[in-house]
Amino acid sequence: MSASCNVVVLISGSGSNLQALINSQSEGNPARIRAVIANRADAFGLTRAQGAGIPTAVLDHKAFAGREAFDAALMQAIDAHAPDLVLLAGFMRILTPGFVRHYQGRLLNIHPSLLPRHKGLDTHRRALEAGDEEHGCSVHFVTEELDGGPVAIQASLAIKPGDNIDELTHRVHAAEHQIYPLAMRWFAEGRLRLAEQGAMLDGTILPASGYQIRI
Ligand code: GRF
Repeated sequence: MSASCNVVVLISGSGSNLQALINSQSEGNPARIRAVIANRADAFGLTRAQGAGIPTAVLDHKAFAGREAFDAALMQAIDAHAPDLVLLAGFMRILTPGFVRHYQGRLLNIHPSLLPRHKGLDTHRRALEAGDEEHGCSVHFVTEELDGGPVAIQASLAIKPGDNIDELTHRVHAAEHQIYPLAMRWFAEGRLRLAEQGAMLDGTILPASGYQIRI
């Protein structure tokens, strides 16, 4: 990794993960968030970024003829910041294969489940309805398979009897705020990378479920 690891964060909403990433920068995380880009002008994360003095941009996907055109413009906006790492932090868009390939090995996502369980949306409700005893969140490298790329870090927690969706969502969110800054730090330190066989930490291929943290 170069002296500083330039990061661009993509958001669509509240940006509480973005906030955790921003906060980690003053807690010794060597990564530097150079820009935050949203596909919605009303994403509250833009306000968080501005509060931290980070440049922001809005690219409304509805203003583009299609997915390819939007992703091409998005790539241009991102690449203007010469990123070493691009983080999806609640970015609610499915990305084209060309986009994913362009950032291969430097594109991470945070997903609110213990992947490969509960890919897609509505994960907390599905974990409860399935009677899962455990739930959590995963940071993974993005590949062309939706929510299917190699997992870098996973935080798991026990579902307690009587847990409701709000409670569970809150606890998983808190776990997300721990593991995403950690993944950004490890990547910036050159410790975490994508190898052909999977996610690699300190020169060792991680198990399919990634580095495990128990909350
Ligand atoms: C998080 O639950 C994340 O796992 C999912 O989108 C949500 C974003 O939340 N990908 P926030 O905008 O960071 O608060």
